[in-house]
Amino acid sequence: MDQAFGEDRTATARAHSNIALIKYWGKRDAELNIPAVGSISLTLDALSTDTRVTFREGLKQDEFWLAETRADATRVSHLLDIVRDSTGLGSRAMVESTNNFPTAAGLASSASGFAALAVAASAAAGLALDQRDLSILARRGSGSAARSLFGGVVELHAGNRPDGRDSFAEPVLAPEAWPLTVVIAITELDQKSVNSTTGMGESARTSPFYPAWVDTGEDDLAAMRLAIANRNFEQLGQLAEYSCLKLHGLMMSTRPALVYWNAGTMAAMRAVLELRASGIPVYFTIDAGPQVKALCLPEHARTVADALSRVVGVHETRISALGRGAQLLS
Ligand code: PMV
Repeated sequence: MDQAFGEDRTATARAHSNIALIKYWGKRDAELNIPAVGSISLTLDALSTDTRVTFREGLKQDEFWLAETRADATRVSHLLDIVRDSTGLGSRAMVESTNNFPTAAGLASSASGFAALAVAASAAAGLALDQRDLSILARRGSGSAARSLFGGVVELHAGNRPDGRDSFAEPVLAPEAWPLTVVIAITELDQKSVNSTTGMGESARTSPFYPAWVDTGEDDLAAMRLAIANRNFEQLGQLAEYSCLKLHGLMMSTRPALVYWNAGTMAAMRAVLELRASGIPVYFTIDAGPQVKALCLPEHARTVADALSRVVGVHETRISALGRGAQLLS
């Protein structure tokens, strides 16, 4: 990493994606990207993003390259501006990102992307931030990214402060503390969903269920914290399914309706319920898209993946253990 004046300042970071057990949807401050409710997630070992940030004098504008294809740099620039404002650095940056999973598989995640960007950009700019401040920086890019700073089980606090200084993520359990497995069932190869920021804004504005969603968020978090503290997998799974279905109820009651599921999504949910009825402890969760994530214990991962692979509408499955937090690679 060369920090000398007049030369490139560069750093590379890796971050893993995550899946929320207790979901975040809605912002209490859109400008600062502060969530209206807290959330709890699992960091996923199988899905990661590597990002190199190079601040270069003479570059006219920020450039964002995703898997060697030039992409829209607007959201990336927004986060880089925060770093530039904090350091007085004027240079534009070259941002090069690669995912260890096919981007076309609809698994591209803003969580791993913005977490890796926050770590790499701050290091390249010489901005020394602790883990909490890095999670706040990542949150400015995307709420779920704040959680990808940490491994294992992670909680993102909504906080109360208008400046968002108390809206940060922190680790709840290390990945080794409770080995859990997530089986990802891909039901659509080319994911085209309504962007989460737009969707959340519409839910807050139009759904009659939105006030109830915000009011009951803290109870769901408290119940999940207890399930985790007691290593009660059944409780964790029931709460995760509940939070997922509550979120999708909120989405479906939004105008225009946010319906993220396809026929394969429904079939995969059914398959999870049938596996459970046959005695295998497995539960589903779904984000703002059509892919189904099945939560289970490592000893059942193969059975769950095989059953989901046979579901009509499921193109592919992936098995993930819990991953570690974001790290600087160079
Ligand atoms: O932070 P975003 O913009 O990636 O939105 C995340 C929204 C959900 O994935 C549906 C829920 C969550 O907590 O990750």
